[in-house]
Amino acid sequence: MKYLSVIILSFILSSSMIFGQNTYEVRQQRTEWFRDARFGMFIHWGIYAIPARGEWVKNRENISTEDYQQYFDAFDPVDYNPKEWAKLAKKAGMKYAVITTKHHDGFCLFDSKYTDYKATRTPAKRDLIREFVDAFRAEGIKIGFYYSLIDWYQPDFANSRDEQAWNRYIDYMHKQVEELLTNYGKIDILWVDYSAGELSGEKWKATKLVEMVRRLQPHILIDNRLGGNMFKDTPDFFAGDFGGPEQITPPAIIRDDSGRPIPWELCLTLNNSWGYNRTDFNYKTAHNIIYTLINCVSKNGNLLLNVGPDAKGVIPKRSVEILEEVGEWMQANHESIYGCGPAQFEKPEWGWYTQKGDEVYAHVTNFNIGQICLRGMLGKIKSASLVADRSELRLSEISNSNTNGKYVGKDDIFLPNLQPRLTTTPPNDASSIRVAKLILQK
Ligand code: GLC
Repeated sequence: MKYLSVIILSFILSSSMIFGQNTYEVRQQRTEWFRDARFGMFIHWGIYAIPARGEWVKNRENISTEDYQQYFDAFDPVDYNPKEWAKLAKKAGMKYAVITTKHHDGFCLFDSKYTDYKATRTPAKRDLIREFVDAFRAEGIKIGFYYSLIDWYQPDFANSRDEQAWNRYIDYMHKQVEELLTNYGKIDILWVDYSAGELSGEKWKATKLVEMVRRLQPHILIDNRLGGNMFKDTPDFFAGDFGGPEQITPPAIIRDDSGRPIPWELCLTLNNSWGYNRTDFNYKTAHNIIYTLINCVSKNGNLLLNVGPDAKGVIPKRSVEILEEVGEWMQANHESIYGCGPAQFEKPEWGWYTQKGDEVYAHVTNFNIGQICLRGMLGKIKSASLVADRSELRLSEISNSNTNGKYVGKDDIFLPNLQPRLTTTPPNDASSIRVAKLILQK
């Protein structure tokens, strides 16, 4: 009996050490898969796909709930096939996906007990999140739920100064999060959005919320939009597991106040809109996306790249094309992305390094004249190869007697120029980004 209680006690202690506490080590352990994964798909989808002017349309155009009802009544995504979405994400090299279960307009893609404002009551007549989860899981992609803290549908939400109304809203919001984390099996990320002004932190009853979340899904990662400070030595309990810069790549590794790196994820639109926008053709190129992904990884970050399916449930054609092109590159070069992070060497002018143990990956993203200079690496590299085809790359000193010994450093060594012929491959072609793998001497 005594023996049993010792076992039980040590189990409770060790699991609370792993999941309950919020130490740096605990968060590093929890986020390990996330830091390895590096690339995910963000999906903004809801009845706002019908007006097709982005997910803020109700608020921006001051559409009353009554007038907005027409989109609810018409929502019938006849071509929704999340298996295709999941295949696309996998092909693009994405390891996790985060979908809007409820956005700011309050509409729920999932079947919630606590509201009728949900997909099952529209002509869609089914729980669209259930199908999503099944399809993405089947492809081995980890599942993230975006859930909007803000709600333009619930009258109680608008009454944040009336204590009773507000408590009712908080209760509703907590119960929906509970449903999401109870009814769909293991969920890998809870992505709540967002806090501002007084609608932040404990106004959401954030400690209570996170306690529940961690009880229901001990391994889950939570984003940083409940409002807590994650930079302090001991971050706020509800500060979340990773930072989330939006539409901008941070200029350097993100660190806490003691200088320790914090996991982070850039969330980025493929054009300029999160939700489907029929007239927005301002798409980034595959080259832009790969460049950005490498940039993030070299600073210990992830990229969560958005698609906005239309009212039929189809991911826009241009988005698919770009993701497929990104996928081709990832197919050949993913070694330099998954499980990689910042390198011990300074950023070179021709691109970026990433590193995994004693493997350094040199990504040549920029136009470069002549050989590729590896500054300060003379004598440090055991072997070099091209990641895409595993062909040998021979290191050399500069082969120009006018330059030799004068204009380059004593410790510099060179790779051949990796760029394809610029006359035949446009420099903005994704395939022009070549990666060399350098194995360091022990
Ligand atoms: C902002 C926007 C929201 C979008 C989110 C993505 O919070 O309000 O529409 O879902 O950013 O990061």
